[in-house]
Amino acid sequence: MTRLAVVTGGGTGIGRAIAERMASDGDRVVIVGRRADVLDEAAKEINAQVGADRVFTWPADVTSVADVTALADGLPDHVDVLVHNAGGSVTVDDESLAGTARRWIETYRLNVVSAVLLTEALLPRLTRPGGRIVAVSSVASLKGAGSYGAAKAAVNNWVTDLAGQLAPEGITVNAVAPGFVPETGFWDSRRTDALIADRVSKTPVGRPGTPAEIAALVAHLASAEAGFTTGQVVGIHGGMVLARL
Ligand SMILES: NC(=O)c1ccc[n+]([C@@H]2O[C@H](COP(=O)([O-])OP(=O)(O)OC[C@H]3O[C@@H](n4cnc5c(N)ncnc54)[C@H](OP(=O)(O)O)[C@@H]3O)[C@@H](O)[C@H]2O)c1
Repeated sequence: MTRLAVVTGGGTGIGRAIAERMASDGDRVVIVGRRADVLDEAAKEINAQVGADRVFTWPADVTSVADVTALADGLPDHVDVLVHNAGGSVTVDDESLAGTARRWIETYRLNVVSAVLLTEALLPRLTRPGGRIVAVSSVASLKGAGSYGAAKAAVNNWVTDLAGQLAPEGITVNAVAPGFVPETGFWDSRRTDALIADRVSKTPVGRPGTPAEIAALVAHLASAEAGFTTGQVVGIHGGMVLARL
């Protein structure tokens, strides 16, 4: 039977590659993000590529309770796969203590609270047994990266806790922790030759990762054959932690 997947941040970068991979594998995919035009363009291109209408769009801010409620209300009764990919670091141009508070709180909201909200909202309709939840964490969750690393570390902890709760119901919960993936919105404003050279020098395999590589791992964790893997944070970073630690 065709599965239904929800991929947050599915209009660009890693999320888009996940949507593309899952649609190519035959799933129906709802991509969620704040920019409707970006989502529409991605859906159009992926559907043309797979030769079928498999990708659908739902513009929403996943940190908003109202938007997440509306999304949950608008989805069909059964959801098979939930991919919490929307996230990133939040910039606040305010060096004051108030600015610091905003940056840490907003980063936590975007990377952690969003995933918790959408999971809570969709949990009643996740397939049992067989449901799959995959969160996109980061190599930054293991060391460094200030508010962003701390928020991704919280994602890892939440994934482990939720996995224990949902395992008896046949739902797996895992995270992937990518290293440097430059062809993404995450790096758009910072992608210089110098930055790429620096990051690659810290990546033992000697090259950046691609969105398609991250998508392949997410697709595996979301697959029926991954039912014995749960509560894991799977690194996909070309050995970057070896250089970081
Ligand atoms: N690129 C890397 O090197 C790297 C490494 C490790 C982990 N990651 C993680 O990978 C994930 C995907 O990021 P990416 O690298 O592919 O960058 P990206 O292209 O910027 O993707 C982030 C996506 O999330 C969406 N988004 C952001 N805030 C949102 C919100 N409040 N509500 C709904 N959607 C929202 C964005 O769309 P809108 O702006 O339209 O909402 C965008 O499509 C993130 O969790 C990031 O932390 C990236």
